[in-house]
Amino acid sequence: MTNSSDSMTRRGLLGRAVGAAALISALDSASQLTGQTPATPARIRDSFDFGWKFYKGDAPGAQQPGFADATWRSLDLPHDWSVEGPFVPTEPSGGAGGFAPTGIGWYRKHFRLPASYKDRQVSIEIDGAYQNSEVWINGQFLGKRPFGYISFAYDLTPHLNAGGDNVVAVKVDNTPQPSSRWYSGSGIYRHTWLVAVNPVHVAHWGTFVTTPRVSKESAAVHVNTKVRNGNAAPAACTLTTAIVDREGKVVQTAEVSQSIGPNAEYEFTQQMAVDKPNLWSVGTPYMYKVRSTVRTGQQVVDEYETPIGIREALFDADRGFLLNGEHVKLNGVCLHHDAASVGSAVPERVWERRFEVLREMGCNAIRTSHNPPAPEFLDLCDRMGFLVMNEAFDEWKAGKGQVRGNGYSRNYDEWHERDVTDFVHRDRNHPSVVLWSCGNEISDQISEHGVEILRELIAIFHREDPTRPVTAGCDQIAAEPKPAPVEFLSLLDIVGYNYADRWRERKELYYSEDKAAHPNWRMIGTESSGMGGMRGDYRGFVPPAPGQAAIAAPPVAVPAEAPGAGRGGAAGGRGFGLGRGGFRGLDTEQLWKFVCTHDYVAGDFMWTGIDYLGEAGGASRGATSGVIDSCGFPKDGYYFYQSQWTEKPMLHVFPHWNWKGREGQFLPVACYTNCDSVELFLNGKSLGAKGQTFPRFGMQGRYGQSPQPGGLRTTSDLHLAWDVPYEPGTLKAVGTKAGNVVAQVEISTTGDPAAIDLSVARAAIRADRRDLSHVIVKVLDAEGRLHPDADNEVTFEVQGEGKLIGVDNGNMADMTADFKGKVRKASHGMCLAIVQSTGNSGQIRVTATSPGLKSATVTIATRA
Ligand code: GAL
Repeated sequence: MTNSSDSMTRRGLLGRAVGAAALISALDSASQLTGQTPATPARIRDSFDFGWKFYKGDAPGAQQPGFADATWRSLDLPHDWSVEGPFVPTEPSGGAGGFAPTGIGWYRKHFRLPASYKDRQVSIEIDGAYQNSEVWINGQFLGKRPFGYISFAYDLTPHLNAGGDNVVAVKVDNTPQPSSRWYSGSGIYRHTWLVAVNPVHVAHWGTFVTTPRVSKESAAVHVNTKVRNGNAAPAACTLTTAIVDREGKVVQTAEVSQSIGPNAEYEFTQQMAVDKPNLWSVGTPYMYKVRSTVRTGQQVVDEYETPIGIREALFDADRGFLLNGEHVKLNGVCLHHDAASVGSAVPERVWERRFEVLREMGCNAIRTSHNPPAPEFLDLCDRMGFLVMNEAFDEWKAGKGQVRGNGYSRNYDEWHERDVTDFVHRDRNHPSVVLWSCGNEISDQISEHGVEILRELIAIFHREDPTRPVTAGCDQIAAEPKPAPVEFLSLLDIVGYNYADRWRERKELYYSEDKAAHPNWRMIGTESSGMGGMRGDYRGFVPPAPGQAAIAAPPVAVPAEAPGAGRGGAAGGRGFGLGRGGFRGLDTEQLWKFVCTHDYVAGDFMWTGIDYLGEAGGASRGATSGVIDSCGFPKDGYYFYQSQWTEKPMLHVFPHWNWKGREGQFLPVACYTNCDSVELFLNGKSLGAKGQTFPRFGMQGRYGQSPQPGGLRTTSDLHLAWDVPYEPGTLKAVGTKAGNVVAQVEISTTGDPAAIDLSVARAAIRADRRDLSHVIVKVLDAEGRLHPDADNEVTFEVQGEGKLIGVDNGNMADMTADFKGKVRKASHGMCLAIVQSTGNSGQIRVTATSPGLKSATVTIATRA
């Protein structure tokens, strides 16, 4: 949302609820009521999430104010009914939708207007409802939005009862199935807001701030502000625009006046400058605010804030991506919008924790595959310094087989211009957004009208945002029998390659042929194979015991139709090794070698950063192509990227060391590291040191002179490997840099599961019905070591000022328990519970028990 200081940040919500006259909800006595403050702000934006009624199914007539909804379920938004399950194979959403329930749902909310809303124009903002939402206020139809990922608003003013009851009714219809190639969720799964403004106000998403010239000395900041006069008489308006730094200091102001006609809009343009700006970057994501104050005469009629970052983002055909003039490789991941146990209604803190884990990996870029994200997702990217490829669609006019005509192609003709315009208006002030993607693997790449459609679409993006380039994830480049035409690709500002290595000798040559043929193309890897697999599952990596048949591949959670199967398969998670998918890790290593040594490839977004629901093959709820599982726990592949993308000394060794019955058999042991060399020991005996070197350098200056320091160089692969004759005990790996020991890990053969260990990501959270803590379960042996194969069933009890909102173990194929239940089996020794605060300060006590294991309890403090 443009005015995202108002959006769902934890501080933002509290600040609003306290600072603004709060909304009175007739039904939700617990909603955040506060008294009216003496000075009512010029603009009020209240959360509208609390105290809704919900009915799963159709309820004809439920738009009428008098409709009897007393028996409907009471709940708070965001809400996704699909994730409540049950997930069953007969659901029409099929494997694409993770076998989740879909259908129709109705929401109603009764409310009264606080006195502070008097004489205001009141609108409802809905950040996302999947899908085909229809909205009524007091029985009056306001409109329909088919696209489930778009944010929208309706003016309620003409239909409101100033002194009495009001009822908003929303029908959500996700019946035509499968409607998506991945899990969509169903319902009003994002935040809702009630906004009250004076008749003269900054229009919805009404600011557009650009920074056309940026240097360390000064930055030009251009501010366009659309002001709406909703009065029947002309209004003499003065707009004061202030640029405010992080400490709240005004660093620049500009003022301009204009008379605006009755019921008309006027767009102000102001050209401002900031001296010695604090530039927004990945490492230092410095945010300013643009504060727009609108006056008529002496009266302040609106005050509107737009968070901004001052930065210059450029894509260059030879030098790749430049941020503030410095080369930055986009080390990217593709992410879908769900978070497993909370479905598509993802609390902000869940994303924040996931982003923390991604950042630790060295990831600096995110592709919002394949749809517009929630507004607060981009706020987090702004604040945490991620670069975003913001994607619009998975389909244009031509549909995709998996969704049988139920995808966006149904709506394309009627809605694409409106949807793209709204999408760009909402998101174009985010410094994190550096690139638009107008589509993913669009079938129209090779359709008769593809070029024409693309041209029109790009023109809309450029019209609404002339500052950012547009790409598309193209999977038909060099494809046989019919490749995407050059005419199509040449229209893109940045040519986006999905699986650049897919066809023939491109397996080794990647982008180079196209670079030679089209030196002016700017190129990026919009999607590439990652290193998925199931966390902790080494079938397919460790060979079978002598005399035993090959271990059957575990249930493979990959899309059945996916070419190059193995993308999500268990064997792929180790990066290399035996069996199907085994070479995928090598593919990933090779691709990275190319990308990191060719600046002209701006970056790469691997599929995927985190596991997601849907695209399930066989009996599974989701796809395991992530390097992080759905609980947020890293898999082995995560450490491959960390070894390449970070400097802090790390080493990661796998597999585990519980191989009873394999004594004397050679087992593979591998290591991802950024150390110069790693020495491996088994029960104190050295198995030898190994060292990697990539890129290798040739001589320099004169014959025989090499810039490479000496040291151990046993491979230029991006992993180290040993074959180790198995005996129980302890594997120890010692990593050195410049001769000094800088990292060390031990992996021991464990005893049987004996105890539960609980830890919390945060031990104190806000008591605001939003904030939450991740409670991490580890099953330990009697010596306190994680048991790598434990699958004990854990039961959670939550007492005090909190509630359980999801349980998960990261194993998509384990369909034995509901996400919303209180029981979950561990998977490879771990599982997760997510606990959310109530509105009261106090304590949350979480106890985890399991037959035969010592139980554990943690306490989380909650503060108002
Ligand atoms: C890609 C596609 C993704 C996902 C992935 C599965 O081709 O763009 O959406 O389907 O394959 O591996």
